[in-house]
Parts: sequence; structure tokens; C-alpha cells
Amino acid sequence: MYNEDDIDLDQIDLTKGPPADETACQYYFIAKARGYIQALAREAGRPMTFHIGTFGCQMNARDSEKLMGILTAMGYVCADTEEADLVVYNTCTVRENANRKVYGRLGRLKRLKKNNPYMRIALCGCMTQESQVVDRLRESYRFVDLVFGTHNIFQFPQLVCRMLESDRMVVEVWEGTDKIVEDLPAQRKYPFKSGVNIMYGCDNFCSYCIVPYVRGRERSRGPQAILDEIQSLVDDGVVEVMLLGQNVNSYGKTLAQHVSFAELLAQVAEIPGLRRVRFMTSHPKDLSDDLIQVMASSDKICRHLHLPVQSGSTRILEKMHRRYTKESYLQLTDKIKKAMPDIALTTDIIVGFPGETEEDFQHTLDVVRQVRYSSAFTFQYSKRTGTPAAVMEGQVPPEIVQDRFDRLLETVQKIAQEECARWEGTTGQVLAEQVDRQDASLLTGRLGNDRLVHFPGDPGMIGRILDVRLRESKGFYYMGEMI
Ligand code: SAH
Ligand code: SF4
Ligand code: F3S
Repeated sequence: MYNEDDIDLDQIDLTKGPPADETACQYYFIAKARGYIQALAREAGRPMTFHIGTFGCQMNARDSEKLMGILTAMGYVCADTEEADLVVYNTCTVRENANRKVYGRLGRLKRLKKNNPYMRIALCGCMTQESQVVDRLRESYRFVDLVFGTHNIFQFPQLVCRMLESDRMVVEVWEGTDKIVEDLPAQRKYPFKSGVNIMYGCDNFCSYCIVPYVRGRERSRGPQAILDEIQSLVDDGVVEVMLLGQNVNSYGKTLAQHVSFAELLAQVAEIPGLRRVRFMTSHPKDLSDDLIQVMASSDKICRHLHLPVQSGSTRILEKMHRRYTKESYLQLTDKIKKAMPDIALTTDIIVGFPGETEEDFQHTLDVVRQVRYSSAFTFQYSKRTGTPAAVMEGQVPPEIVQDRFDRLLETVQKIAQEECARWEGTTGQVLAEQVDRQDASLLTGRLGNDRLVHFPGDPGMIGRILDVRLRESKGFYYMGEMI
């Protein structure tokens, strides 16, 4: 295993070609890019800066930390704004809105680039895996310098070199990969908590979803690589990790030696010095009794389960290819609540899936009322070209979707507020994360169940887990005081 702190970029011989080992090869290109960046900084009379814009989910957030680690190792300095010498957009394409945002922001970058001769623009992430996006960039966004995809993100150092050596758009997008390249640098947004990938891709092919097409087939990382990474994060001051995958419950299926997610989670929870473990996302179809058992028996595993239901109608769930029914979902949530009465359940819901009737929608409201989610992400169905649902009959008119969406949101919010109020007056363990954005005498922290708490405290406490009394529920968060 490599440890980035042990690698001396000065020891890398750039007069020879790049080494065959993939990790060593990328360190070679980090060293090479560092030379280019030093030369540019000398010429400009100031350091070269970078800015990363991240769209989408936790996987992208974690990928951006890796990009940031690599750019920092190359000698780029992080800038707060997009007025930087390298702007990277790590994109999302799960809904049309996500796409639109990126095109809009690119228009603004074009103007910035006119004023800065050093400025380069790179695009990566899920959007660039779609060929129509790359075509559009080639046609109408010719000022973009580098385009790469999700499968070859580990090649970032090499691609930065190619970008700096070329004055034309460099495009390198792979159709897929079975590679997992370990041990490249990463820089965390927070010193005390970190996401950890346990698997990549998704094989579920829910009929509305683009993710399996842009993230490729499901691949699990070996358990030892995961445990080693977490151990080194803990040694570096991390107290909380979030295990990341599109469907963590099917972890391990692609490994030669089968290890279940429940087994992995139990091992992670044993790591000395680690205080909290979370994970995202659980697919209801294969959440095992073993997992509930492991969660219930460990106080390090957060009492929070994100369990996307998508729809409450069995008929729609079948068309969505979710492989559970309304009844089996409700049985599952009952079982979870019995095993852990203090669990916070959260979910994702789509309204307006093709063919959804008022009756189907009523089933969704019914599930929300029965499960009583502590929060829910609600989405209007967005047609994704290439997915089976995009060509299904019965696309729901926008005004009906909007009306259902509004009614759903109202129900979700009312229940979420009631659930929040339920814990008023109790004491919880809060990880202090930052100084409150509105009031600098307060800290903002997070409970195990993922709710935010604002409470008086000083910045020296950031990164610590504190006992806080939840003095007052404000609907979606609490005002608290340390005890
Ligand atoms: N792997 C996770 C979800 C990843 S995408 C899971 O299976 O739960 C995050 C959420 O985006 C999904 O849960 C779904 O609610 C929403 N989503 C995905 N595709 C969508 C689409 N085409 N239109 C609207 N919402 C969508
Ligand atoms: Fe998309 Fe379904 Fe995979 Fe989640 S499980 S990423 S919704 S295909
Ligand atoms: Fe978006 Fe890709 Fe995540 S499409 S939701 S960033 S996996």
C-alpha cells in the first residue's frame, strides 16, 4: 500500500517514461504537472489557483476531494471563487435540472476566461459519460480544455498534463472499467469526518435512472483496502466516516471471497478511535436482518437509515423495477423501528413517474404517513434519454406533477416537524462541525440521526462529539445547549 505522505515527488525520475503500475504512473504525472505549474507560476508572478464546483451526490463530493488532493499535490492553490487558473466542474446528470445548471455556469466561465490567459476549464463526472453531452461541448463550448468521465477519474494527473501540453480540447471518456485504483492523494473538506467509497457503479437499472449508464457496473472494493483507509483516516484525526455506495446492501457480491455489507459494517465499527459510522444508500430490496442486527447492537453506528421508497404504489414500483412492494417496504420499516425505536428514517420520492394516477399517488402519501420520515428528498420525475421510462406511455402532464409535488411536500414537512419535536428536551451526542453561519457565538453540529443542532460554543470544540440538550425544536433543526 502507498501512503501519500511517504511519497517524495522529487525522487521521481521524469527523464524516464511513466511506470507500468497505475498508482505509481499517476504519481509520476503529478510530479510532471508540478513542474509545469511551477513554471507557469514563475511566469505569472503568482501561484496558480484552482476551484472545483461539485454537483450531485456524496460520491461526487468524495471524488472532488480526490481531485482536490491531486491538484494540491501538483502545487495548485485552492481559490474560493471561480476566478481561478483551473476550474473543474464535477457534474451530475440524474435529473435535467442538474444538467441545465452546468451549462448555465459554463456560460459565465467563458467570460472569466477572456480576462485570464492562464485559465483552463475541465469537466468530469456523470454528465460527461453521455455522448450527446460531449457532442454539445465540442460544438458550442469549445473553450472547455479537458473533458473526462467517471471511469477514468484516476487518470486525472495524466490528463492535467495532457491539458497543459495542448491548446485544443482534450477529451478522454471511457465506456466502462473494471479497475479500482487505490491510494491516490485526497484532501478532506472536513478534518474530522470523511466519506469512504466501498463500492462503485450500480447494477439495479431502476427504469427511470441514468446512474447505471454513467457509473457503470457494480464493483466492490476489497474489505482490507477499506479498513486500511479508515484506519489511516482515524490516525489523521477523523472521528466519523460515511460508507458510500449506490446500493451498499449489495456490497461484496463482486468479490472473489464474499463479504456482506453487515459483516463489513461490523468490522468498521470495531476500528479503535473511530466514533461514528454512517452509510448511504440502502436499497430496500436487499436490506438484511443481519444488517439490522449489526446496527442495533453497536452504538457507533448512527441511528439513521436512508431508505429510498421512490413510490408507495406497488404497481408503479414494478414499473420502476424496484423489486419490492408497498407492503414489503412497510414490513421492513416496521421491523427496523422495532429493533431501533430511536431510528431516523429518511427517503427519496419521485412524483409523476409515467402512468402514475391519483390513486398511485395516494399510496405514496399513505406510506409517508405510516413511516413518518424524519426528512425526505422529493423529486419531480425527469425524463432521462436512454432509460426505459423515457419511452413509457402515460407521461404525466407538468401541472399534475406540480400539484402532487406540492401536496407531497406539505405532508412530508408536517410529519418531519412533528418527528423533530418528538425529541425536544432530550440530550444527544452532537459532532460539532462548524461555526454557525448566522451567529458566530454558536456552533453547528450534527446528531447521529443527521439532524442539525445550533448551540453556544467556541471554535476550539469543532471536531469533537459533545453532549447537547435539545432545548427547542425549530421544525427541521434544534437550538441546544451543552451539558
Ligand atoms: N442509489 C440511490 C439513489 C441515487 S439517485 C438509490 O437507489 O436509492 C438519487 C435519487 O434521485 C433517487 O433516489 C431518485 O429518487 C432520484 N432520481 C433518480 N432518477 C431520477 C429521475 N429520472 N427523475 C427524478 N428523480 C430521479
Ligand atoms: Fe439509480 Fe436504482 Fe441504482 Fe439507485 S439503485 S442508482 S435509483 S438504478
Ligand atoms: Fe448525480 Fe452521478 Fe451522483 S448522476 S446523483 S452525481 S452518481
